[in-house]
Amino acid sequence: MGKAFSSICVVLLYAFLVLGRSAYAKMINFFVFGDSTVDTGTNKYLNFTKESGANFFPYGENAAEFFGKPTGRFSDGKVVTDFIAELANLPLIPPYLKPHADLSYGANFASAGAGILEATHKGKTLALEVQVNLFVEFQEKLKRKLGSVKSKEIFSNAVYCISIGITDYKAVFQGNSKLQLSKPSDDLVRIVIGNLSAQTQVLYNHGARKFLFMSLKDTGCMPGMRLMTNDGSCFAPATYLTEYHNMALEQLLMGFASKLVGFQYTLFDQFKFINARTQTPIKYGFFDGLNACCGCGRFRGLRTCGRNNPKRYHLCRNATTHVWFDSFHYTQGVQRQAAETIWQGKDHLIRPRPLKHFFMDETSQVRHRKQGKAQIASTLGFALSKSI
Ligand SMILES: *[C@@H]1O[C@H](CO)[C@@H](O)[C@H](O)[C@H]1NC(C)=O
Ligand SMILES: *[C@@H]1O[C@H](CO)[C@@H](O)[C@H](O)[C@H]1NC(C)=O
Ligand SMILES: *[C@@H]1O[C@H](CO)[C@@H](O)[C@H](O)[C@H]1NC(C)=O
Repeated sequence: MGKAFSSICVVLLYAFLVLGRSAYAKMINFFVFGDSTVDTGTNKYLNFTKESGANFFPYGENAAEFFGKPTGRFSDGKVVTDFIAELANLPLIPPYLKPHADLSYGANFASAGAGILEATHKGKTLALEVQVNLFVEFQEKLKRKLGSVKSKEIFSNAVYCISIGITDYKAVFQGNSKLQLSKPSDDLVRIVIGNLSAQTQVLYNHGARKFLFMSLKDTGCMPGMRLMTNDGSCFAPATYLTEYHNMALEQLLMGFASKLVGFQYTLFDQFKFINARTQTPIKYGFFDGLNACCGCGRFRGLRTCGRNNPKRYHLCRNATTHVWFDSFHYTQGVQRQAAETIWQGKDHLIRPRPLKHFFMDETSQVRHRKQGKAQIASTLGFALSKSI
């Protein structure tokens, strides 16, 4: 009798602790804006274009959790924001445009090929401004549903990741290899950063406070750019532009932090991160830092991966040994290392604070239940068939 009574007490106490905690703990949402570096399938749901996604083999081939199927991600598996969500104990964050998506932990607006400038790949992707407009639309919907107090709390606690910019410069990189490094490109950086500044300000005005920015990787050293030099070295004009962009970005963020009340940011030095892996791959557990796993031509730098006739591209046997999966994008092994670096603040590559502080400074995150196969399939937009 006494024993039964004490067991009941234990159960009640436990229920009190667990339920009480979860009622008060805050869930920190994760919103993602950007291009193919963080697109998790948005472009599958665009009606106006069919060509700008990665929804075909061999993309996705190595993600067992994704059943080895393509998901629209430009990677052999997951992308960096998937790994960040994992580290933050969040489920996969679905594309905002996915019909019936569960957006209770955040939303992904990123669209492969997108630029900061509206003119970049116009008509084929969602430019940053369009992504931000969709976010505002989502915010309005949630406000109507939850009321403005609750919704304000969600959006001010949330983390906003912005990973975009390369495509705005790509036309210049690829236009001609005799690019003059003078006024025109400096002006371009100013216009690109000016538009990024404007969109960041819109997010801030809508309550965003905690930002994760990815600086640009050294675009001159991507296989698709090395292809353009005679000796296979990095393509200097592209490197110059991205370094210049990155400097201007950090200045912009320092300016915001001193001007805008409550504005907090953390900036990932992707330029140094990827160059270390490209130059000394073995130190980081890779074998090949130069050649893409998938593509054709020198360095497999021609972007033919998965397109058209499968005989027209080469696919390496084991992507885990490569830094680059295709001519412009990392393998998921590198994406995982990037997420861990960002989360932990390894190698001084994230300034001024590791990302984990953004997710942990509130009452600790409720641990969501690990997603089952059916849930993951639904987030990815698959029908869960017998073959899975
Ligand atoms: C795409 O088309 C479908 C069906 O016509 C529509 O329901 C959906 O809202 C459209 N999506 C976008 C992003 O325009
Ligand atoms: C944004 O980009 C457009 C070109 O697309 C440019 O005319 C405008 O000046 C830019 N805005 C800022 C604030 O730099
Ligand atoms: C790929 O390479 C990694 C690292 O060398 C190894 O652990 C793994 O077993 C390889 N996978 C296949 C399918 O060969």
